[in-house]
Amino acid sequence: MAALQWWQTGVIYQIYPRSFQDTDGDGVGDLRGITARLDYLAGLGVDAIWISPFYPSPMKDFGYDVADYTGVDPVFGTMEDFDALLREAHARGLRVILDFVPNHSSDQHPWFVESRSSTTNAMRDWYLWCKPRPLSDDGRPAREQLPNNWMSHFGGPAWQWDKRTEQFYLHSFLKEQPDLNWRNPVVREAMYGAMRFWMEKCVDGFRMDVLWLLIKDKEFRDNPPNPEYHAGMRDFASTLPVYNANRPETHEIVAEMRGLMDSYGPTLPEHVDLKSAETTMERRSAQSHRVLIGEIYLPLPELVTYYGLPRKQGPAEAPAPETPELNGANLPFNFHLILTEWKASAIAEIVRRYEQLLPPGGWPNYVLGNHDQPRLASRIGAKQARVAAMLLLTLRGTPTMYYGDELGMEDVPISPAQVRDPAEKNEPGRGCGRDPERAPMLWVNAPNAGFTAPDATPWLPIESDWAAKNAAVQRSDSKSMLTLYRRLLALRRQHDTLHAGAIAEVAAEGDVLRYRRVALPKGDSTDFQVLLNLGTAVATTRCAPGTVVVTTMLDGAGARVEGEVTIEAGEGLLIALD
Ligand code: GLC
Repeated sequence: MAALQWWQTGVIYQIYPRSFQDTDGDGVGDLRGITARLDYLAGLGVDAIWISPFYPSPMKDFGYDVADYTGVDPVFGTMEDFDALLREAHARGLRVILDFVPNHSSDQHPWFVESRSSTTNAMRDWYLWCKPRPLSDDGRPAREQLPNNWMSHFGGPAWQWDKRTEQFYLHSFLKEQPDLNWRNPVVREAMYGAMRFWMEKCVDGFRMDVLWLLIKDKEFRDNPPNPEYHAGMRDFASTLPVYNANRPETHEIVAEMRGLMDSYGPTLPEHVDLKSAETTMERRSAQSHRVLIGEIYLPLPELVTYYGLPRKQGPAEAPAPETPELNGANLPFNFHLILTEWKASAIAEIVRRYEQLLPPGGWPNYVLGNHDQPRLASRIGAKQARVAAMLLLTLRGTPTMYYGDELGMEDVPISPAQVRDPAEKNEPGRGCGRDPERAPMLWVNAPNAGFTAPDATPWLPIESDWAAKNAAVQRSDSKSMLTLYRRLLALRRQHDTLHAGAIAEVAAEGDVLRYRRVALPKGDSTDFQVLLNLGTAVATTRCAPGTVVVTTMLDGAGARVEGEVTIEAGEGLLIALD
């Protein structure tokens, strides 16, 4: 009997490789840098790292424009460096998840170079080419007669005119990131081949970039206008992405990817934790040894459809189990804690609705930050960032944290001359820039905070309070954010109630968010009460008898609680119930 998998009980840590650790003094992080910091990650207590793209790339979108799906860009190192990273990570029991970018390639990818060479090229149909829209004769040149009104996520129309062949190609992001044609089975096979390449190296899974955008309407119909659009908003918001996002056929592809990934076995000896599997459904979802994660920004009811449908049993297969396994993504990323207002009632509602909407066998997950979103500590403040840490690490479901959040890193101010992100360059001043959350990791009390050589110029500026915030300083401070993360991660790992138990009584009482984690029938038999004060004033609430295990201020452990409990503004309590 299988049990819960590592990607269900574990915690995922995202690394933006340009910003983690530089070892060759060019001011850009590299794979050897990640390897050098594996002991830090193992000591922190996370279970898996997800590394943003390091494939060969012209770096127009810093690696999300891939020119070779099975290589390593020299700025990050070599394939030997990757092999060493994977080996060393596995030696420490850490899993490695790659970022795969299926929706688009770089315009420098040999496939696109071929595709754009002529309308009759065998690879023409690998990308999405369209003729100018046949308009009434209004005298406009063909290059202005766009096929439809779809907009790029990075500003302007999503169509680029190609002079040589006098057609447009689709780019949902930069014009240097042409969209691949996922309706073409040959494209699918090529992409699955690249996935196999990494799976055979024994990577532990993929985070699939913009998974909900892969398929576009066959007829390229116009999107409806967004009635709420107003000047100053980003171009992309001018229409509603009805025909170029979340198309029904996408699920077929996700199921193919999942099937491929499930055909691979474990990468590490399995730690079978029998008592963690609560139900038959959960045990069955544990058949995936490698994890398929989808980047999906959708409302909850649509998001949960990406878990897929119950798998059909073929005649040759075993008799249908009572709950068939789902065939979609193992973890469709849930970004709603990032997108929701930081209010107890709003978050309680998200958690309750999500729990209700999850299909039987669907494993929950939560994300608090990533390389596309403002830093948590800047968004909600340093004190609440500690509450957020407790929230993320005590909810039911796989947590994903973003590098540096464990230090309370904040958005770094970027002057116009320092802007690197194409999203900001294309639409300046509209809040699209992602450089602030991509600043270098703060390691030690030394020039450049130990991210790169002291005399090197980091590719983005170092956060100004690096001297007080770096990992080394925080490591020796018993009350630091890093100490809080380490403590919470250790507790989550230690107690199967926290990494596998049910969640109950999720409620908001004014500014207090509260929920209970329920011990497994055969588990460690501790129930936990979580009480989080998301407000700016002291709050009181009630609690069943228990003992405080940890507080966000790291000051009240061991205290007994019973009946009325007082919680400071921006404080959180984890209580083991009697
Ligand atoms: C995803 C990535 C983002 C990138 C975009 C285009 O949203 O997270 O960083 O710019 O896809 O690949």
